[in-house]
Amino acid sequence: MTRLIVIDDDHDLCDTLCDFLEQNSFNVVGKGSNGKEAVDLYLQMKPDIAIIDLAMPEYDGNYAIEKIRQNDSDSKIIMITGYDISSTNLPLKHTINEILTKPVDFKQLIKTIHNLTEGKNEPKDEKYSEKKLQTNTDELIQAHRLNAIGELSTRIAHDLRNPLMIIKTSIEMMKEKEISVRSDEFGYFSKIDKAIMRMTHQIEEVLDFVKPKPLFIQTCSILDILKSTVSQTSKSENLVITLPENDCFVGCDAEKLKIVFLNLITNAVQAMNNVGKIDVRIIDNDKDVLIEIEDNGSGIPADKLPKIFDPLFTTRQIGTGLGLPCCKAIIEKHGGTINVKTVLDKGTTFSIKLSKNLDADRLNEINSPLFPIISNMLK
Ligand SMILES: Nc1ncnc2c1ncn2[C@@H]1O[C@H](COP(=O)(O)OP(=O)(O)O)[C@@H](O)[C@H]1O
Ligand SMILES: [Mg+2]
Repeated sequence: MTRLIVIDDDHDLCDTLCDFLEQNSFNVVGKGSNGKEAVDLYLQMKPDIAIIDLAMPEYDGNYAIEKIRQNDSDSKIIMITGYDISSTNLPLKHTINEILTKPVDFKQLIKTIHNLTEGKNEPKDEKYSEKKLQTNTDELIQAHRLNAIGELSTRIAHDLRNPLMIIKTSIEMMKEKEISVRSDEFGYFSKIDKAIMRMTHQIEEVLDFVKPKPLFIQTCSILDILKSTVSQTSKSENLVITLPENDCFVGCDAEKLKIVFLNLITNAVQAMNNVGKIDVRIIDNDKDVLIEIEDNGSGIPADKLPKIFDPLFTTRQIGTGLGLPCCKAIIEKHGGTINVKTVLDKGTTFSIKLSKNLDADRLNEINSPLFPIISNMLK
C-alpha cells in the first residue's frame, strides 16, 4: 500500500485530502501544516510520496523540498499550489515530480500518485473502480460545498444581519416621523421593505440550514402548525390554499415543522406564479401520519428532479437552493421521510411521513449535529 504524507496549512483541505486518500486505500502516515513539519515527517516516516503545499507561512514548500531532497535525492514529491507557477512571485526553486493546482482535482491526484508509483498501487479491487472514485469525489465536493456554505453563513450572520436591522429600523423610524415625501416617492418605501424582507429571508434560510438548533419535541397539532404557516405565507389573492379539516397530534418540533411547511408552500406558490390552488392534506394512518402538499404549478422536469434536494440546487434567480435540503434534514431528524411526485405542467405533490411515536433511540440521535464539519466550524 502506498504510504503518503500530506502537508498543507489549510487544515480543512489537509484533513479532506487525507480522508479521501484513505478512503481510496492509500496509507496516510502523517500530515502537517508547514515545511518544517514536512521535513521531520518525511525523515521519520519515509513515505513513498510527499504531497506538499507550496505557499505556507514561515517554512514553505520550497524549504521542505530542499531539505527532503538533500536527504533523499530520489524522494517523490507532488506539489499542490494555489498559484499559477508560471507567473507566481513564489517560484519553484527545485524540481518536483508533479504539480497540481488548487482547487485540487481529487481524481487527478489519484492518477498522479499511480503514475509516480509506476503501477505498484494500480487499482485491483472494486474499491478503486471508477464508480467508487466518482462517489468519493462527489461526496468530497459536497462536503466542500457544505463547508463553503458554513463559512459564508457565518460571514452573512455577522456582516449582513446587523446593517440590515439598521436599515429596517431607520425606515420604520422615518415612516413614524412621517417625513414629508411626495406620493410618487412613497412607493420606494414598499420596495425597500420588500428588498429587506427578501434579504432577511435568504439569510435566515442559510442559517436554518447550516446552524440548526437542537429539536424541541412536544406533542403538537399538525393542523395548528399548518394554519400558523399559512398565515405567514405571502401570496396573491388569486392563489388559494385549502387546509384539511381533520387533524393529527404528533411528537415533533413545531417551529422546525413550520420551516418545512413554509418552504414547501413557498416553493408551490412560486411554481404556480401566484395563481392556482394548493391542497394540503393530513392522512392519519395507524402508526404514522402523512402530510401532503399538492400544487398545480409547473411541475419539475425529469432532469432536475434528482437534484432538488441537493444543497445549492436552484432554478430560481434569487433562490438559495437550501429550502428543500433544509426540509429533508429536519424531517429526517424527526425520523421521517419526504418524497415528491411531479407531472410536468400539471403539478407537484410533496409528502412527508412522520412517525406518531418517536422511539427513544431516535430521540437520542435527534440532537446530534446535522453537519458535524460545519457545526464544529461554527462553534
Ligand atoms: N413545488 C414545486 N414545483 C416546481 N418546482 C419545485 C417545487 N419545489 C421545488 N422546486 C424546484 O426545486 C428547486 C429547489 O428548491 P429549494 O431547495 O426550495 O430552493 P429555492 O427555492 O431557493 O430554489 C427550485 O429552484 C425548483 O426548481
Ligand atoms: Mg425554496
